[in-house]
Parts: sequence; C-alpha cells; structure tokens
Amino acid sequence: MHNDKIINQLTPLVRKHFEGAEAGHDWWHTYRVWRTALRLCEDEQNADRYVVSLAALLHDIADPKFHGGDEEIGPKTASSLMNRINVDKATADHVINIIRHMSFKNSFEEPHFDSLEMRIVQDADRLDAMGAIGIARAFNYGGYKNHPFYDPDIQPDLEMTKEQYQKKAAPTINHFYVKLLRLKDMMHTDRAKVLAKERHDFMERYLQRFYKEWEGS
Ligand code: ADP
Ligand code: NI
Repeated sequence: MHNDKIINQLTPLVRKHFEGAEAGHDWWHTYRVWRTALRLCEDEQNADRYVVSLAALLHDIADPKFHGGDEEIGPKTASSLMNRINVDKATADHVINIIRHMSFKNSFEEPHFDSLEMRIVQDADRLDAMGAIGIARAFNYGGYKNHPFYDPDIQPDLEMTKEQYQKKAAPTINHFYVKLLRLKDMMHTDRAKVLAKERHDFMERYLQRFYKEWEGS
C-alpha cells in the first residue's frame, strides 16, 4: 500500500536523525511508542493508522529540552521530513498538530487540539514512561543530569509549574511521584488503561523494594 511505502521510507530517516541521542529519547523510544500505538489501534477501529504511525515516528524528532528550549524545532523538522516523502497536506497538518500538543509539559496548559490519533500516540508515549522501561528511562535521565537516585530529606513537590518542572534537579525517585505514578489516570483509550495499570503496579512493587534495600533489608 502507498501509505506503508511512505512509512517504510520514513523509518530510516527518523532512525538516522536519532544517531547519538540520549537513551531515554532515542530511536528505540520512538520505535516502542510506534509499536505500542499500533497495538492500541487494534482496539480503536476508527483510528487512522497512517496518521498514528507518522505522529508516533515524528513525535520526539527534535525535543526542545535538547535544543535550548526551542518549541518550534520539532514541528519544523517533522514538516520537512514529511515534505521529503510526499505526505499529503491534510495528513501532515494533523500530524503537526499532534506533535505540537502532546507532550506532558503542555498538559500543564489548556489543550487546543484533540483527536483520536493524538490520544493513541499520547497514551503510547506515556506508557513508555511507565513500567520496567519507564524506570530505566527515569534513572537514565537522572544519570544524564547527574541527579541523585534518592534523598530521604527531599520530598517530591507535586505543585510544580511548567518552568519549575523543566528546571528541577530533584532526586530521580521523586520523579515517580511528580509524574510516573500519575500517568495511570491520564490514559485515554481502554487498552492503554489496562496496560497502564500493569505497569503502574510494577512500579509500586519496585518502589517498595527500593526503600527496603535502601535500609539494608
Ligand atoms: P515527554 O515524554 O513529554 O517528552 P519528558 O521529556 O519529560 O517527557 O521525559 C522523557 C523521559 O525522561 C521519561 O521517561 C521521563 O520519565 C524521564 N524524565 C523526565 N524528567 C525526569 C526527571 N526529572 N527525572 C527522571 N526522569 C525524568
Ligand atoms: Ni516520547
């Protein structure tokens, strides 16, 4: 099919783009979000799988965190890649809207855009921040930033603004309370709610063990 051909053209371009990326936000994160999003599509018959694939593959193509906070570089890079492989304008516009609106940071703000395809990719992206992989990503990010694993004297701050969230240097364990354990209740699709519950329970078990081992048991 024509659309499958376009996706096959896009994947090596996206993969190349991520060469040398930090492990939590690399090609394999994109790959997992794409696979998970397609899995969620199996239960969402009305979803446009082509839009979902494009949006999943392009959603982190240029993270503002690694580009001096520039929020426009992602949409721009995604547009030019879609142009290169001749994605039609209506589809490209939809994909750009999705990647502009879907990050966790933007969920501190009013949503200006919504679609089933966006919900699916957002669920898949959030699922990748949970469970075994979510734990690996959190500690990888903390290591990259040289944050401590845990500090019993620093309590998680649940009332952070978007700016504070981006700047914080709190221990990685606090990130579970600020973000990861809240993701379960943010899922849109039924299948994602089921997967999120499993991954949430796994993180809870992980934390219990972490605190036990911290005290030597
Ligand atoms: P988004 O998926 O919206 O791009 P982020 O870029 O904030 O979210 O996060 C990407 C990954 O890095 C996620 O797995 C997230 O849990 C992790 N991460 C982000 N901030 C922190 C932090 N302060 N401590 C530990 N992990 C973090
Ligand atoms: Ni992502």
